[in-house]
Amino acid sequence: MSERTAVYPGSFDPVTLGHLDIIDRAALIFDRIVVGVLANSGKEPLFSVEERIDLLRRTIGERPRIDVTSFDGLTVDFARSQGASAIVRGLRVVSDFESEFQMALMNRRLNPEVNTVFLMTAFSNVFISSSIIKEVCRLGGDVGDVAPPESVSAMRRKFGLDG
Ligand code: PNS
Repeated sequence: MSERTAVYPGSFDPVTLGHLDIIDRAALIFDRIVVGVLANSGKEPLFSVEERIDLLRRTIGERPRIDVTSFDGLTVDFARSQGASAIVRGLRVVSDFESEFQMALMNRRLNPEVNTVFLMTAFSNVFISSSIIKEVCRLGGDVGDVAPPESVSAMRRKFGLDG
């Protein structure tokens, strides 16, 4: 049987324990996961693409069969370039669903052969988002239980909270 590859696209600004949870769940289903950091999102990110990739790689550590790279343009084109048959997205709360559903249906129109697979995050990660974590960290709050240590130190450095 051929290898089943999925892409996991996102901003990852920075990677959270919620993202890591989805990566671990996806790895139980697919043979290879390619985490894709969107480079041209139009959003003003805190971290450069290189920094986000580096944080992801260090957080993922020795987990096998997981690659991290950046991409530009359409997610379906990224999926095709990686030989992926699926796009993985995490769902936290019902309010995520509407925009995710819209995106999944648009992606299916663009490439009917690529399916979006939604994975539900662990209950403990339901209220985690990179934006909230950045805000709490910037204001000096403790985010150690929702972000990996690599992201916490990188954020603290960016916000000038260390040293
Ligand atoms: O982590 P995010 O910000 O929720 O990720 C959003 C992402 C990167 C998955 C989405 O913006 C995306 O797929 N962008 C690439 C451009 C694209 O394919 N747009 C059409 C999707 S409907």
